[in-house]
Amino acid sequence: MHLFKLLSVILCIVFPLPAFAQKAQTIDELAAMFDSSRCADCHDVIYAQWEKSQHARPMMGTPGILNMTKLATPGATPFSPADPKQATLKTYPCFKCHLPQALTHAEDSVAVELTEAIIAQDKAKIAKLQITCIVCHNQKAIIHRLEEGKPDPAALYGVNEMDAHEDEVFEKVKKSAVMQHSLMCGQCHGLGPNLEFDNPVQCANLYGSYLHAYIPAGGSQTCQECHMKPIDGLADHLIAPNWDDIPHTTKLLQEALSLDVQTLGYEWLENAKTYVPKVIVNTKVASTAGHRIPDG
Ligand code: HEC
Ligand code: HEC
Ligand code: HEC
Ligand code: HEC
Ligand code: HEC
Repeated sequence: MHLFKLLSVILCIVFPLPAFAQKAQTIDELAAMFDSSRCADCHDVIYAQWEKSQHARPMMGTPGILNMTKLATPGATPFSPADPKQATLKTYPCFKCHLPQALTHAEDSVAVELTEAIIAQDKAKIAKLQITCIVCHNQKAIIHRLEEGKPDPAALYGVNEMDAHEDEVFEKVKKSAVMQHSLMCGQCHGLGPNLEFDNPVQCANLYGSYLHAYIPAGGSQTCQECHMKPIDGLADHLIAPNWDDIPHTTKLLQEALSLDVQTLGYEWLENAKTYVPKVIVNTKVASTAGHRIPDG
């Protein structure tokens, strides 16, 4: 081994580079920067729940259709590049919520590679792009950045403070002011049309519905209270519904929606000897969700 190579290997072992030092040029580099697989060593239950969740496959679509195919297809949307090589991060306004780390930690070359991968329907490659533990517990854990600063690259953010956290990169856990608030989820679950783009896009709107319909009607629960109810003391990271598990999702929706139907059938005496059959049907559909369903 060359001396220089050897030295840099030693230096890397002694002074591990912060994971976020440089911007990613490739999908693999971006995936590695936010890779959370080592979290499974100590948080196995949470990891297994997350792995099955929609957050673990935000670029894959439900069920099984690559959800950004149109953007990668020339002429299909105003964002679509004529040639995949011309793709930039701006080709995908969807990154705002489906892959926020791309906007802060990737070069345009990642958008080019993604566009080529979508055209080739290379699902294995695209599946590497996920809303990992690090996205929520670092990148999305601070909202008031003017006051609190950017997320610390050497810390995770949680519900509690921890001076020593055994992870090799994130050696402590700081308290996030928003982790247990609906605002945490509202960052991606949408208020309405996203008017900041040159061509506005609209996808999830549910946080708007939560704020403007559920709360004013007296609703008092947070997203986390309904969707992350602790199982054996740990916040449930499946964050159901999960559209790849249709039986479970059907059960949840059945529990969430009630249908009350009352009918009255009678014959209306229009004039002597003329009876007109009539029916009155009153239906009431009620939902226990904290927002409209379905959304989007
Ligand atoms: C404001 C944040 C936001 C933006 C911007 C956004 N999405 Fe979404 N999208 C979501 C969320 C959150 C969900 C899942 C929850 C829901 O639908 O209520 C979702 C769900 C979807 C779904 C249905 C689930 C699936 O993966 O098949 C599709 C398709 C989709 N988005 C495509 C897109 C595309 C394409 C763009 C860009 C043109 C985009 N979204 C932009 C937040 C967003
Ligand atoms: C979509 C965002 C999101 C993702 C992804 C996510 N978390 Fe969380 N996590 C949260 C929120 C929000 C809470 C706080 C829940 C509460 O207290 O109601 C939380 C709580 C936790 C807690 C404290 C659990 C408890 O109940 O004491 C741990 C530990 C944790 N997460 C680890 C992880 C790990 C490991 C991963 C990846 C496998 C992960 N999280 C992925 C949002 C997320
Ligand atoms: C070597 C073991 C180990 C590894 C690896 C590890 N953790 Fe932890 N982590 C712990 C322990 C122990 C705690 C404290 C007890 C608990 O909350 O489970 C903790 C606590 C946390 C908390 C704080 C929970 C709270 O109270 O708010 C979060 C968030 C968290 N870990 C996320 C992660 C993420 C994300 C990764 C991967 C990048 C990770 N951890 C890797 C051991 C580990
Ligand atoms: C970084 C952005 C982001 C954050 C933060 C986030 N989500 Fe999501 N969430 C998404 C996206 C994107 C999807 C859709 C993935 C897909 O299927 O394409 C999704 C999917 C879901 C789903 C599955 C149902 C569906 O329609 O896909 C639920 C439920 C959900 N999120 C709830 C939450 C809750 C509760 C929180 C807060 C604890 C939260 N999310 C935080 C982006 C986010
Ligand atoms: C009062 C409880 C409650 C609150 C609060 C709540 N939800 Fe829900 N949510 C539900 C129920 C019930 C469903 C129906 C499916 C299910 O049971 O999982 C649902 C469904 C969803 C879906 C799937 C939407 C679809 O198109 O079918 C998403 C995404 C979601 N919630 C996210 C959120 C987010 C983000 C918040 C906070 C802004 C939130 N929820 C607040 C109870 C709640």
